[in-house]
Amino acid sequence: MTLLALETSCDETGAAVVRDGKILANVIASQIKLHAEYGGVVPELAAREHLKNLLPVARAALREAGVVPAQLDAVAATQGPGLGIALLIGFKAAQAMAYALNKPFLGLHHHEAHLYSPWIGGLAPGPSISLPAEGQGKPSLFADFAEFQPNVSLIVSGGHTLLVLVTSELHHRVLGGTIDDAAGECFDKTGKLIGLPYPAGPVIDRLAAQGNPTAFDFPRPLLHEPNDDFSFSGLKTSVRYFIRDHPALLDDRQKVCDLCASVQAAIIEVLVKKTIRAARREGVRCVTASGGVTCNRALRLELARACAAHDLTLRLAKPALCTDNAAMIGILAERKLLAGAPLPALDAEINPGWSLA
Ligand code: KG4
Ligand code: ZN
Repeated sequence: MTLLALETSCDETGAAVVRDGKILANVIASQIKLHAEYGGVVPELAAREHLKNLLPVARAALREAGVVPAQLDAVAATQGPGLGIALLIGFKAAQAMAYALNKPFLGLHHHEAHLYSPWIGGLAPGPSISLPAEGQGKPSLFADFAEFQPNVSLIVSGGHTLLVLVTSELHHRVLGGTIDDAAGECFDKTGKLIGLPYPAGPVIDRLAAQGNPTAFDFPRPLLHEPNDDFSFSGLKTSVRYFIRDHPALLDDRQKVCDLCASVQAAIIEVLVKKTIRAARREGVRCVTASGGVTCNRALRLELARACAAHDLTLRLAKPALCTDNAAMIGILAERKLLAGAPLPALDAEINPGWSLA
């Protein structure tokens, strides 16, 4: 089965071609530079960029995969959640392609797709990734996926922080989520207070590596609450007051590194401890993580340490597949088709506020 998948929920225009659990091509046009000037994603600009880049990106994915549209068995796109006018571009384009080819169309939940990205193997990191011809890549992802169900999955991005229990393939239950800011938003907003460019997450990651994570003490919100929810807006506010009270600190490079390391340590401690606690309570053997914040090196390291200490297997999405991409949409679409999941009507609409159940 060969599928084309499109992803335009936020600021990455993605197209991927998937066949039999393998990624034949995964092309991404990132808009990060465009939005950096505004300190955040501007929905109208994102939609215009998607419109400009979608067909070139889709053509590039088909070319890399060596697939022509007539060979496609289905077309899939992200249906939600995301920015409405951004989602519309990929979703409507995929619907039109499916209609023109007279093939099934699948509209998928972006976070459900994130649950599968840690299982995608055989890809080298990079903005545009392709595998050699079919059969030469690594084994298809579901070889070991089956072995590690149920698992507890952490999804951490700029828009979401979720803990999900994946009970079996295509079945899951949300354990908790953020009640205010997402973890990535906390990285980006505290970075802005420190004077760092958007998105600040990767910059804080780099500066924190040269800083002392115990230099300053910031709150660990909801860490001791007996639930799987997160809250990061109070942490951001305490950084705001800290900077207000110590303005000279921002002129000292080492202190800025210490501040980044201390903020990062607070975010990571909450994410890691709550993930491990949920995994132990649910009695799973495996923890997975994906979403842009999973690129963070200290988070990867701390998750690895904590999982090793509790005899849990850890599967982290490869950095290139942590951030938004169409490969995860294609992989999920293929599994849904194979499982005979009901298809949405060809005139289905986007669902920008769709929550994962
Ligand atoms: O998944 P993603 O590409 O987009 C969505 O928000 O859906 O995630 C982007 C987020 C941003 O908040 C960015 O600052 C954060 O992921 N991020 C990081 C790192 N790389 C990206 N945060 C911390 N450390 C990183 N290395
Ligand atoms: Zn995402």
